[in-house]
Amino acid sequence: MQTTENPEIITLLSGRELEKMRRAGRLAAQLLQHLKPLVKPGVTTLALDNEAERWTQAHGAKSAPLGYKGFPKSICTSVNEVVCHGIPNAKQILKEGDIINIDVTVILDGYHGDTSEMFFVGEPSPLAKKLVEVTEECRRRGIAAVKPGARIGDIGAAIQQYAESQGFSVVRDFVGHGISHIFHTAPEIPHYGKAGTGKRLRPGMVFTIEPMLNEGTYEVEVLADKWTAVTKDAKLSAQCEHTIAVTERGVEILTAP
Ligand code: MF3
Ligand code: CO
Ligand code: CO
Repeated sequence: MQTTENPEIITLLSGRELEKMRRAGRLAAQLLQHLKPLVKPGVTTLALDNEAERWTQAHGAKSAPLGYKGFPKSICTSVNEVVCHGIPNAKQILKEGDIINIDVTVILDGYHGDTSEMFFVGEPSPLAKKLVEVTEECRRRGIAAVKPGARIGDIGAAIQQYAESQGFSVVRDFVGHGISHIFHTAPEIPHYGKAGTGKRLRPGMVFTIEPMLNEGTYEVEVLADKWTAVTKDAKLSAQCEHTIAVTERGVEILTAP
């Protein structure tokens, strides 16, 4: 998601707010774990959406995507060449060999937890498996670059360097984002770029790291539904996301499973 507010102003969260972010993040991570066993050949992406909405309400939370800028469903389900923001659909039946990103964001006590993972439907191809593993390693390396005094560009540089060393490309059109009582706010966190550039990280900053890696070109296209982003060359794409906080000591993953 691109952020829409003043990109100069990065809010630092108080201890009380951080505690709410921890609770929201934990719930979002639990929702993904709850959905994981449902990902099987024959299931529709709408069935995943329905269960996510039911579970979220049952846990006293709200689905942030539902109605957000007109998004029609509760989660994003992005299959194979879909880069992000796939819309759950009754006609979309998962089949053996598909890869799917499920991206959930819950609002608990006014604060957001935003996380996504890749899941395999049956057995993936060796290439799909590698793309997913490299994407997960990119998220790890991006998170490892976070500490007070480091710069935003260090995160993208770490991700891009590893992704490209493995023969994949990094999507430019969607970035990580600040998050708190607002779903998408400053700062923007590109998943590519130059080390030593960009704003310095400070304790209390909270944002997402959500790299999207493509098998082929990094270019994407948005379909006529105004949401679904697909690779321009129709090759595979993968993504995974955590919400993290910069702490005095380094980094805390708020959406750890
Ligand atoms: N969860 C997505 C993100 O990581 C945003 C989805 S917005 C929606 O930023 F409207 F598409 F749901
Ligand atoms: Co996000
Ligand atoms: Co997300």
